[in-house]
Amino acid sequence: MIITLDGPSGSGKSTLSKQIAKEYGLIHIDSGAIYRTIAYYFNKNKLSKDQYINSLDDIDIFYKKNGVTLDGKLLKNEIRTSEITELASKISAIPEIRDKVNNIIRAIANKTSVVVDGRDIGSVVLPNADYKFYIDASIEKRARRRLNQMRRKNILNNKSFNEIYSEIEQRDKRDMSRKLDPLTIPDGAFIINTSDKKIKDSIKQINQIIRGNNENHIKHS
Ligand code: DC
Repeated sequence: MIITLDGPSGSGKSTLSKQIAKEYGLIHIDSGAIYRTIAYYFNKNKLSKDQYINSLDDIDIFYKKNGVTLDGKLLKNEIRTSEITELASKISAIPEIRDKVNNIIRAIANKTSVVVDGRDIGSVVLPNADYKFYIDASIEKRARRRLNQMRRKNILNNKSFNEIYSEIEQRDKRDMSRKLDPLTIPDGAFIINTSDKKIKDSIKQINQIIRGNNENHIKHS
C-alpha cells in the first residue's frame, strides 16, 4: 500500500504520517528530511552552488527506520535549524537534487508499503498511490506550531512569532512557485484542513477515507 501526504510546512503532515505508519504498519518516509540532509551536507562541507551537482554522488545518505543518516549518523535537530530549513527549500529547486531524492523514495516504495510526506509525492513521485491527502492549515496556525516546535527543540534563537510567520510565507511562495514539481494539490487527493483540529480528529478523518467511508469527503480533480 502507498499513502501520500503533501502540504505546506507546519500543516501537520509529518505528525499525521507517523501516526498512520504506526496504525497500518507502514514505513514512513519524510521526504523533506532527505532534502534537509542534502542541504546539511552542502553547508557542512562549505560547498558553493556550482559544486552541488558534482558532489551529489559522494553523499553517503540512507533512509533508515528512524530517519535519514549521513555518513552513518542519524541526523535530528541539526537539520531543523532555520539555516538548513532555508537552504533545503532553495536547493529543492535543482532538478538533479530532486532526481536523487525521488530515486531514494521510489527504491523504498518499490519494495515495501509506505506512507510518504512531502510537496510533490502524490503529484509526481508516486502518482499511482492508493490514497493521496493534501494537508493544509492557515499560516497563522503553522507559524504558531513552528514556534512551539523550535522552542521544544531549543533551536528558537530568540526568533519572534512575526519573523517565523514571514519565513513561512516566503517558503510557501518559493515551494509553490518553483518551475519544477511545485507544491500543488494532487489530482485525486483528499484535502484535510488541520487549522482547528486536534491530531486525533484529522487521523479519524483519514481513517474514514482509507476504510472506504468517504461519502462526506470530496476528491480534488
Ligand atoms: O517538509 P520540510 O519542511 O521538511 O521540507 C524542507 C524543504 O524541502 C521544503 O522547503 C521544500 C523541500 N521539499 C520538496 O521540495 N519536496 C518534497 N517532496 C519535500 C520537501
